[in-house]
Amino acid sequence: MAKSAPSFHCTACGAAHSKWSGRCDACGEWNAIVEDTPLSSGPAGQTLGQAKGHRIALTDLAAQEAPPPRAASGLGELDRVLGGGLVPASAILVGGDPGIGKSTLLLQAAARFAAQGLKTLYVSGEEATAQVQLRARRLGLTGAPVQLAAETNLRDILTTLDAEKPQLAIIDSIQTMWSDTVGSAPGSVSQVRAAAHELTAFAKRRGMAVILVGHVTKEGQIAGPRVVEHMVDTVLYFEGERGHQFRILRAVKNRFGPADEIGVFEMTGGGLSEVANPSALFLSERGQSAPGSVVFAGIEGTRPVLCEFQALVAPTPHSQPRRTVVGWDGGRLAMILAVLEARCGIPFTGLDVYLNVAGGMKISEPAADLAVAAALLSAREDAALPPETVVFGEISLSGALRPVSQMENRLKEAQKLGFTTAIAPTGGKVTSDVGMTLTRTGDLTAFVGEIFGAG
Ligand code: TYD
Ligand code: MG
Repeated sequence: MAKSAPSFHCTACGAAHSKWSGRCDACGEWNAIVEDTPLSSGPAGQTLGQAKGHRIALTDLAAQEAPPPRAASGLGELDRVLGGGLVPASAILVGGDPGIGKSTLLLQAAARFAAQGLKTLYVSGEEATAQVQLRARRLGLTGAPVQLAAETNLRDILTTLDAEKPQLAIIDSIQTMWSDTVGSAPGSVSQVRAAAHELTAFAKRRGMAVILVGHVTKEGQIAGPRVVEHMVDTVLYFEGERGHQFRILRAVKNRFGPADEIGVFEMTGGGLSEVANPSALFLSERGQSAPGSVVFAGIEGTRPVLCEFQALVAPTPHSQPRRTVVGWDGGRLAMILAVLEARCGIPFTGLDVYLNVAGGMKISEPAADLAVAAALLSAREDAALPPETVVFGEISLSGALRPVSQMENRLKEAQKLGFTTAIAPTGGKVTSDVGMTLTRTGDLTAFVGEIFGAG
């Protein structure tokens, strides 16, 4: 067999190189490039097919034991995002921008889990114990039996975990941890990977749950949480806008529960408090129905959530009109503008378009298409939608409206919040009477005619 060419990678940024050099072109780090050791070169230089490994014990699909019970924290928003509580021997990554409130959330979660009888250890690599204690006092958590350490040496942490045998360990943050077996700086891709690998492997082996905190970083020196996403069972992102009080914990991957589930919290002077009714919160700043404002009845995970789309359309002073989107996908906006122009003959050339989801919420459902189109048209025509109306529906490139999932849940939530009318695509099942007037349309042109006159 032909011997494969050697390959190299940078231990600081992870970039692959075909030859060794003193400085990595990708990140500029010196002396960080090392040769990859291929898996196929076994101990005696044998290739994989020749090398003798151990035979793996095989088992049936059916031979599983009953799943171990989950531990609930009692913090409902967190438990739901986890899929109903913490699974023993699982690894969870909590990512988010610096300063968004990850340490606050996890300290509160640690206290809750500890109060439920779970032996909990909180390791901070960023703050001194006195700082964490001060925060705990502020949050009123000093009574909780959480064991605290300020440490960044992975070997010492693993030794301690081995001796203490906690059921839950929280590592804040993975980027501050360093392993003496890896020769690059803390926060580099290889350190972050090594630390995450060691901790998750330890957790699996010992039946301990581990929560890793990862800062989302701008492209640059330190590795973001993405480099460890594949190693863990559950990936949660803690997001929110700095200027807004509320924070959303979103499951983007969960081996033990539904992904796309969200938990909503509010940042207060006394820490994070749960928001039981997010729709009411997202709509709280809404005044009378105004041009450009449309309420979308969405679904986040298993829960209906209403939120407001706001659009502004104005003649542009520039040669190239602006398209600015906050909280929604820019590509999707371009598509809807194109469909409005091509199928309904409503051009947006020469007009700046601004689209915003009120309150800092992020929406990714295609079911919001019709609400976006309605907001754009309403802003363009300077005509408000009928009051107490919610809108949802997916728009196809042909201009047809497609039915969306969980219509009934969307309608019930809207009805609960005092909405009386819903504009929705034809098709889709509504079995019970939801107490709302339903306006159904099959395509965008009909919708435009119905809501905005001739368009
Ligand atoms: P923190 O949990 O330290 O963020 P992260 O770990 O994600 O970097 O949160 C820091 C912010 O939270 C800080 O700007 C202050 C704010 N905060 C409150 O508003 N109330 C509180 O009770 C606490 C502890 C923090
Ligand atoms: Mg922190």
